[in-house]
Amino acid sequence: MKINVIGCGYLGTVHAACLATLGHEVVGVDTDAARVQRLSRGEAGFFEPGLPELLAQALGSGRLSFATEPTPAEVYFLTVGTPQVADGLAADVSFVHAAIDSILPVASLDAVVVGKSTVPVGTAAGLVDKLGGRALVWSPEFLREGFAVADTLHPDRLVYGLPDDPATACRAQNALDQVYESMLAADVPRLTMNYATAELVKMAANSFLATKISFMNTMAELCECTGGDVTLLAEALGLDARIGPLFLRAGIGFGGGCLPKDIRAIIARATELGVDDTVSFLHHVDAINQHSRDRVVDRALQLLGDEPEGKKVTVLGASFKPNSDDIRDSPALEVADRLHDQGAEVTVTDPQALFGVHRSFPHLHTESDITAALTGAELVLLLTEWQEFSHLDPQATIDLVERPQLIDGRNALNPRAWRAAGWRYTGMGR
Ligand code: UGA
Repeated sequence: MKINVIGCGYLGTVHAACLATLGHEVVGVDTDAARVQRLSRGEAGFFEPGLPELLAQALGSGRLSFATEPTPAEVYFLTVGTPQVADGLAADVSFVHAAIDSILPVASLDAVVVGKSTVPVGTAAGLVDKLGGRALVWSPEFLREGFAVADTLHPDRLVYGLPDDPATACRAQNALDQVYESMLAADVPRLTMNYATAELVKMAANSFLATKISFMNTMAELCECTGGDVTLLAEALGLDARIGPLFLRAGIGFGGGCLPKDIRAIIARATELGVDDTVSFLHHVDAINQHSRDRVVDRALQLLGDEPEGKKVTVLGASFKPNSDDIRDSPALEVADRLHDQGAEVTVTDPQALFGVHRSFPHLHTESDITAALTGAELVLLLTEWQEFSHLDPQATIDLVERPQLIDGRNALNPRAWRAAGWRYTGMGR
């Protein structure tokens, strides 16, 4: 099919490359000319395992190209960002409106428009008039950074939020079924519903994941007060099929461009709808998450004898999670920055994210070599569980540091092995 993907950020770039790999003729559209040039050379501009190979393959096939303006197509995917507004909790949907404005001059009336951006419930219904009869589907995306290619090509489920009019809904569904033909043939579940439900599926999924993490972080604190071990608690909970083993890792909490923003957007939308009490627990989820970061800062200060000035602190990890160079709302960098503010001499190391640290936190010292970063440290904090860090050898590293003190903010290390090697090991709730 002839497809345009409007907005070539994280989601759009991956989606465009994957659709071209599935055999469609895809134009990725972005208003940023420099980004379009870069993408046309096969450079994603961010770290995502498997994406460079996929881009090269798709560009080489001739089925993928990038442009600054939309072109005539059968299906237009909207994949622009919906960041948190600067002065509140709500999501800014202005890029979605701009994306629609940009396609109207070229999209024929029988074109199908598919919204994939994460939007507050009620957004899609408000866009229908603007589309002047073109069919609109809201089909949220569930890909995770670090696994974006696999999640896009082999999703858990496809969600179609369809228009109320049966004939338009049928036309839109047929078009989308054709786009995802190979996935449907591979028995990926496809659920059809109305706009509001589809929008809520995405918001609910991210809120639920955030709630799981904050729940475990409160359990981690209870473990700390009582001598329990939250990693064993999580293992035991996870064996209950009703609970499941994933997203139960306690630590310094969640960050990134999605979970924090989405719980706030759902609070903002519920407030607009006059039902803010219903989701008030999400304020706690957010507060617990922030508290998890505070706890690490407090513990670090304690280990520095409450005299952080001039003390050498090494932070392992800058991205909000491993296998990503995304530093948006990164818990690791917030902790690093706060220790810097307290006067510590903080060095940050990360396998992929140091470029972003230079740009957004120019005052933080960075070091790409782990050995150099650890040398002379009076306190080490592991804050993003990259394999490079979780596989560190406690015996080999102890000789590098000035004082063998370690905070494992992601419970990624074996406490027994680190303590046996002579380290003063502190985990999160264990
Ligand atoms: C999240 C969702 O998982 C995706 O399904 C969704 O499509 C995406 O947001 C989005 O809305 O676009 P992502 O932001 O890539 O994906 O990251 P996650 O894997 O969800 O991790 C979020 C944060 O939670 C990370 O900081 C991670 O370290 C933290 N986390 C995760 C924990 O602290 N504990 C856990 O057990 C799991």
